[in-house]
Amino acid sequence: MSIPSRVQIIDVGPRDGLQNEKQPVPAHVKIELVHRLQAAGLKEIEVTSFVSPKWVPQMADNAEVMAGIQRASDVRYSVLTPNMQGFQAALASRPDEIVVFAAASQAFSQKNINCSIEESIERFAPVVQAARDAGIAVRGAMSCTVGCPYEGEVSPESVAYLAGLMKQIGVQRVDVADTIGTGTPLKVQRAIEATLKHFDVANICGHFHDTYGQALANTLAALQVGVWNFQSSVAGLGGCPYAKGATGNVATEEVVYMLHGMGIETGIDLDKLVDAGAFISDFLSRKSNSRVATAILNKRAG
Ligand code: HMG
Ligand code: MG
Repeated sequence: MSIPSRVQIIDVGPRDGLQNEKQPVPAHVKIELVHRLQAAGLKEIEVTSFVSPKWVPQMADNAEVMAGIQRASDVRYSVLTPNMQGFQAALASRPDEIVVFAAASQAFSQKNINCSIEESIERFAPVVQAARDAGIAVRGAMSCTVGCPYEGEVSPESVAYLAGLMKQIGVQRVDVADTIGTGTPLKVQRAIEATLKHFDVANICGHFHDTYGQALANTLAALQVGVWNFQSSVAGLGGCPYAKGATGNVATEEVVYMLHGMGIETGIDLDKLVDAGAFISDFLSRKSNSRVATAILNKRAG
């Protein structure tokens, strides 16, 4: 298959990126980050999650953040909803898309959302139905599609099984996530091929954490099998609180730099994206995890 000529990026930094931060990030900073991302040309932003504040305190300001965003009509704002309680709380915030999230490994499912894969699907089914009845799009995140922090390697069959369940309950598109970043290109391609049994390539997003430095290679491997939707975090923020030691998503700056270098369109202004990353890194008092951002900032300074 030929490599796509255009790629759609969902920046998940405000959600996946910030959910793991120990220091409280005030709602106004999260809102400013979203504004900067949309100013940089992002057309999809994963803003927050309507999960239990006891489990993930950083996302407790979900409604405030959603209410504070000056929305652009051509940007899709998504939020995570693990159950009906979360969906009902999210409704008032008028998300364009909700995300139900399951895992291809049972152990991770238990640690992350306190139930088995099958129970999670039972829980999501009415949420998916209610969202679709309300005209809200539905995405399904599939965690641990190559490796699990508790079970080790995850088979493509487990990924196909989960993708099939997601399809059955009416999920419209899915994320193939390498939650702990242990995946390498051929394994990621096998997870995508397993997902292709149930979803068209246009409805598959790559979501690669960069813990082992493989995320950009995995992105290229996914492009080679036709995937053209990707999730990444500005400044490479983040990690999942229930995947110990796992670091952030691949930095959006890295993905955009690589794609533009390959002549692939993203609609994103890399300079403005670097500014957005600098804004949040400054707030967190740390250097960006993006090497591209660091290089560009050094060049500007010099
Ligand atoms: P539970 O304890 O089994 O739920 O948690 P429960 O239904 O028994 O309820 C217990 C308490 O939680 C009750 O409160 C509920 O009201 C409350 P209490 O009576 O004790 O005061 N509760 C809620 N509060 C607010 N919003 C809700 C909600 N639901 C229940 N929606 C639950 C189950 C799913 C809620 C919990 O396990 C949870 O919130 N987990 C958070 C998981 C999470 O956010 N993980 C990170 C995101 S996933 C991720 O990062 C992976 C991804 O990036 C892809 C990848 O990289 O792999 C997407
Ligand atoms: Mg993630």
